[in-house]
Amino acid sequence: MKINSLVDLAFEAKDNAYAPYSDFRVGTVLLCRDGQAFIGCNVENASYGLSVCAERVALFKAISEGHRDFELLVLVSDSDGFCSPCGACRQVLWEFNSQLKIIMSNQKREVKEVNIKELLPYAFSSLKKGDKTVFGSKDC
Ligand code: THU
Repeated sequence: MKINSLVDLAFEAKDNAYAPYSDFRVGTVLLCRDGQAFIGCNVENASYGLSVCAERVALFKAISEGHRDFELLVLVSDSDGFCSPCGACRQVLWEFNSQLKIIMSNQKREVKEVNIKELLPYAFSSLKKGDKTVFGSKDC
């Protein structure tokens, strides 16, 4: 799928956002390497801390359906600026692809591309040491 179509799809996903508290709607498309796309939107709650970002909604949908291999994420909002993934989403996305492409689009449909590795250097991760799993960062 072309980037423009993915951006269109992310804007459609944004229309499903449940964001009565922030009034900030976010839509996303997570594209798997096999071409399948999962959409997500933010889902807020009166107990604010239980709200979930669009990115994690899409990722958890994909994971729960057996997908693990992601190529790119498109993220859109109605803002003039670019909606950049929050810290929690960066960590969760990084887990599955430490070089995930991220394309952000503002409401004018201008796009900016970054890589998750730029957004989350020194990511916390699990590392295999022989048959043991240890935790740390691959960058140091
Ligand atoms: N939000 C996302 O869905 N994704 C982001 O990358 C940043 C923030 C949502 C969370 C909350 O529902 C609203 O935007 C305002 O923070």
